[in-house]
This record gives sequence, C-alpha cells and structure tokens, in this order.
Amino acid sequence: MNASIAVLPGDGVGPEVTRAAVRVLEAVGASGGHRWAITTWPIGGAAIAQGLPPLPPDTIAAARQSDAILLGAVGDPAYDREPPAGRPEAALLALRRDLGVFANIRPLRAWPGLGGVSPLKARVLAGTDLIIVRELTGGLYYGEPRGLAADGASAVNTMRYSRDEIVRVARVAFGLAGRRRRRVTSVDKANVLEVSRLWRDVVSEVARDYPDIALTHEYIDTAAMKLAIAPSAFDVLLTENLFGDILSDEAGGVAGSLGLLPSASLGNGPGLFEPVHGSAPTIAGRDVANPIGAIASAAMLLADGLHRPEDGARVMAGIDRVLQAGYRTADIASARQRPVGTTAFTDAVVQEVLSAGRAPAATPGPVPPVLAARRTTGGRSPRRP
Ligand code: IPM
Ligand code: MG
Repeated sequence: MNASIAVLPGDGVGPEVTRAAVRVLEAVGASGGHRWAITTWPIGGAAIAQGLPPLPPDTIAAARQSDAILLGAVGDPAYDREPPAGRPEAALLALRRDLGVFANIRPLRAWPGLGGVSPLKARVLAGTDLIIVRELTGGLYYGEPRGLAADGASAVNTMRYSRDEIVRVARVAFGLAGRRRRRVTSVDKANVLEVSRLWRDVVSEVARDYPDIALTHEYIDTAAMKLAIAPSAFDVLLTENLFGDILSDEAGGVAGSLGLLPSASLGNGPGLFEPVHGSAPTIAGRDVANPIGAIASAAMLLADGLHRPEDGARVMAGIDRVLQAGYRTADIASARQRPVGTTAFTDAVVQEVLSAGRAPAATPGPVPPVLAARRTTGGRSPRRP
C-alpha cells in the first residue's frame, strides 16, 4: 500500500528513537512491498532553536495531510523558564488538539524475559496486560479559564468535560475491552469532583450499550494503589486526561522502564503515535536510549493508523524475539547483562522484521490488533553478538 507518514522527532532522545522506529517501518515497507512517503518536520525545542514557533504551521499542515504521524518527544530544560505557551510541550498539546486525537491508548504488557526489570515481585507482575485509555483533548489540560493572576498571587486551571467528550472516549474503551478480557475500570474522583460525577454517570450510561463488558468504577487514588500492587487485575483502564497522564507513568514504573511503553492517540483524522517516555535530555545523543517504546509505537501506527494489524504484529513479534535473544538496552539490562546501544538493538529488530517477511507467517490467519502480538511468538531467535 502507499501511505504518507509525517515524522516529528522533537527533542532529546526523540530523534534517536524515531530514527530507530523509521528504520523498522522501512523494513516492513521493503519486505511487504509498501511505499511509505516519510517526511520529517520540526517540533518543540528543536523548532524553537530554528527560530520557529514550537509547533510551526508547516508541521501542522504536514501532520494533517499525512496518513499517520510518528512523534519522538518534546521538552528541553533550556526553555523551563518560559511561560507555558512558549515551552516545547505547548506544541504537543496544540498538535493533539488540532488533530482531535481524543483517545490516547497506552498499553502495558509483560515483555518476555523482562520480569526482572520491574521493581515488582514476579508473581505480582505475572499476567499483566492492560491498556490505559486516556482522554487526551479535554479536562484540566485545556479547560478555560486558566492563567496566573496579574499580581502573581494566585492561578487557576479548570477541569471541564462535556457529555459528548466522555461518551466518545468511553466507546473507545468499551470497544477495546470487547476484543480483550471484557473489563473496563473507569477511574475518577467522584467523591470530590463534580466533573467526575458526570464522568461516572456518562460512562455508566454508555456501558448499557455493551452488556457483555463488566464495568467497575474506581477512585484515582485507589486505582493508583492497585496498579502498583495488583496490575494484572486490570484489563482496560478508562480515565480523564491528567489522571491518565499520571497512571501511565506509573505503568512505566510497573514495567520497570518508561522506555518500554508505546502509545497511539486516535481521533477521526490521522493518528499520532509516540512513545510514552519524554525527551530524557541527560541521555540524549549517546545511543543508549531504549527504542522499544518508539518501535512499538510504530507497530501501533501500522495496526491502528494504517489498518495493517498483521504488519504491526510482525514488528511486535520482532521485538519479542530480539528480547528473547538477550538484547538489552542499559535501562533494562541486569548487572550480569552487557547492554547494547539504541542502534544495535534496532539493527536486530530490523533483521527480524526482514526475515519474518520472507518466512511464512508463524500464526496464519487474521491477527487482532497489535497488543495481542505476544500470541505470535515462537519461531527462530536471532543469535546475540
Ligand atoms: C505525556 C507527556 C505530556 C503530557 C507532556 C510532555 C505535555 O507527559 O504524553 O504523557 O502531559 O501529556
Ligand atoms: Mg506524561
């Protein structure tokens, strides 16, 4: 197939991990006979440094016209003293809003052999396979009024949701749960916040259209605690923007490295695919960043952005096999393992994807969306150098 992919590398480790993900996309394209038109655009601190606004008009235009967008990370301590609108992060928030990508999907799966990376006991982590569905274009991040009072003595932000905003993201969560273990946990703070009361009521109403899905409600504080002590109890977690931001970093903690987590942000136009980790400026440019979050985001781009779930599954299976062969970047290497760099890890995934393209598929038949890729494991493993 032909598809155009806009790549927005951004700041810090963003360029390294998107380069890794693009190499894997090119391998999928080469072995599958696809033609990807891949173009690269500045965003965040990288744009500011070129004298451009954090989200340049050309970048927005290219993103809108693409079939899918792959983003690295934004954030640069050089701009920490800027007001919110002048910071690199402003670009990401504006882009999400502009694209209308209201459903942010952040899966946490137990990768093979990585149990020891998590700070949790193996028996607590065992069986963990959950998805956070975070509302991404409303709530406290965007609510008006907002601002710092002129005298600097107070500041305000507003948490606001309309019924429609809650309905559409809830439908995404119930739809996903229907293809998984059929459980949705909706997270709110309905014992304190009016917005959460509305959230709870609307999610319960939507649930009536999905009689085969079990819905439970949980307060954000309890959900945060349960995520740390019993992550395997969750299937789909549905929550508003800020709660989802916090829970998804916690999910990275549960996995043992934020570098492992991918994400997809979906709406009615092109989807935005980005690793959950930030720009990590202290390790940028040293070829040590973990590319798994970005490569798995590319897998989600194939599955959910370009509707090629079998290609997404191939990439996920490639990461699986590379991990099974013992490759580890520094953040996930044990004391006894010699870590490999970003490039070497990516080389191995590219090899896997290319050879999987030539071999008959390990599991014939339709493969459900990318997150189920673990089912396709098996087959050969590359030899570790
Ligand atoms: C994330 C990040 C962003 C957010 C920042 C960089 C604005 O933390 O994607 O989780 O808060 O949404
Ligand atoms: Mg975050």
